[in-house]
Amino acid sequence: MADNIEVLASAPLLLRERRKSISLMLVRFIGVVLLAVATFYLFVGNFSSWTGSVKNVNKQELVKNSRPLMKELGVKEQQYLKQEVCDLSVGKWIPKPEGPLYTNETCDYMASYTNCLKNGRPDSGFLHWKWQPNGCDLPPFDPLKFLNAMRNKSFALIGDSVFRNHARSLLCLLSVVAKPDEIYHDRTNSGIFYYSEYNFTIYDIWSPFLVSYKLEKNLPDLELYLDVLDSQWTKNYDKYDYMLMSGSHWFYRRAIIYENNKVIGCHYCPDLELNNIATDVPYRKALELTFKFITTSEHKPFVVLRTWSPNHFEDGEFSGSRICNKTEPFKEGEINGDPADLLMRSLEVEEFEKAAAIGEKNGLRIELLDTYHLSLLRPDGHPGAYRNYHPFDGGKKNVENDCIHWCVPGPIDTWSELLMKIVIP
Ligand SMILES: *[C@@H]1O[C@H](CO)[C@@H](O)[C@H](O)[C@H]1NC(C)=O
Ligand SMILES: *[C@@H]1O[C@H](CO)[C@@H](O)[C@H](O)[C@H]1NC(C)=O
Ligand SMILES: *[C@@H]1O[C@H](CO)[C@@H](O)[C@H](O)[C@H]1NC(C)=O
Ligand SMILES: *[C@@H]1O[C@H](CO)[C@@H](O)[C@H](O)[C@H]1NC(C)=O
Repeated sequence: MADNIEVLASAPLLLRERRKSISLMLVRFIGVVLLAVATFYLFVGNFSSWTGSVKNVNKQELVKNSRPLMKELGVKEQQYLKQEVCDLSVGKWIPKPEGPLYTNETCDYMASYTNCLKNGRPDSGFLHWKWQPNGCDLPPFDPLKFLNAMRNKSFALIGDSVFRNHARSLLCLLSVVAKPDEIYHDRTNSGIFYYSEYNFTIYDIWSPFLVSYKLEKNLPDLELYLDVLDSQWTKNYDKYDYMLMSGSHWFYRRAIIYENNKVIGCHYCPDLELNNIATDVPYRKALELTFKFITTSEHKPFVVLRTWSPNHFEDGEFSGSRICNKTEPFKEGEINGDPADLLMRSLEVEEFEKAAAIGEKNGLRIELLDTYHLSLLRPDGHPGAYRNYHPFDGGKKNVENDCIHWCVPGPIDTWSELLMKIVIP
């Protein structure tokens, strides 16, 4: 068993499922390995995710899918994986003397809970790392090049608070060259930003599930409708030239699940007499429905799916407290992802592969912005305690930490560098 644990522990090293650089077979294989990791944790590991919802993962499914182990990966495949093929999602963080393009003084789009320096975060080393992908270069974000390429275009950014975190980082990067007018704003804080000089429109769309949901004060629980897409993003679909979407940690939340207007079960409701639905099931269905809509629509934007954003909660000094206070990146092999996060990412890769293959036949471009692994190596990129203004003032202890969102500026800026490389080669 010990050997298998060693081997499984190295699984993240092999996360390089870029469509063009690796055969589909290998991709599936790695997906299975990730499932095996998840299974291992389910049966052997004693862990709790930040919502405790991992317990709901369908164990039988996992066992069924987890037969091949990493040791079965042939010598040839292992050598291939070590080759210097250009793969944006695999590489290492290297020191970078220069700081970010913008600061909290030049950009005011960041949400207060991500404005780490203003909130008093004492270390700034986390601003001085550059992502170096294997076998290719990742140029720094070039706001002028980006805006010029986006002349007369529109870009929709769709997701939850982590997506908005990224959207704000992108607005900050662009603010070095131009500042947009916010021409629309609604109660979900969705907005439309217009760069008049470039006739470029950014749709910032709050849609944490991609499918429809109800969250109201008079409802005891969040309700999720797996067969209805969220009109927040579909209503203007014909206007998007580019679209970046992302899954969300909201799928970890307790929710009553509907299909065809009937309750089919519940995720994370031990107190209710309902069919228990695992976390990954609703997310997979939401992605399937989303991709079905995209691949069957007349309109054909350039679609990018961003992979899961990993959390870095670890145990704090006080019982029950969970923190993230690291100040440096991890090196390869120093961290294994949270099995719940890994499971979500692996299903994203699977659904993406299916959709991209269909898209290719229909003249529709679908790409994967695979930020999971490079983000996993950045435990130092979260606000942690500095989600609040000067959290330790007055000798406060045991303060709440945010180990999900990312500091702005911070490693999340790198996501836009990758996005640029994918969208404007
Ligand atoms: C920016 O951050 C610095 C700390 O680096 C802080 O002193 C300053 O108040 C912040 N300014 C704004 C406008 O957030
Ligand atoms: C943008 O649209 C205007 C008006 O239709 C046109 O004159 C211009 O050439 C377009 N620019 C680009 C880069 O497509
Ligand atoms: C802006 O871009 C749209 C296409 O997205 C085009 O129809 C329109 O003419 C452009 N307007 C200007 C002022 O260039
Ligand atoms: C992080 O928190 C732990 C537990 O509270 C503490 O022992 C450690 O010194 C902290 N590290 C940093 C860099 O603040």
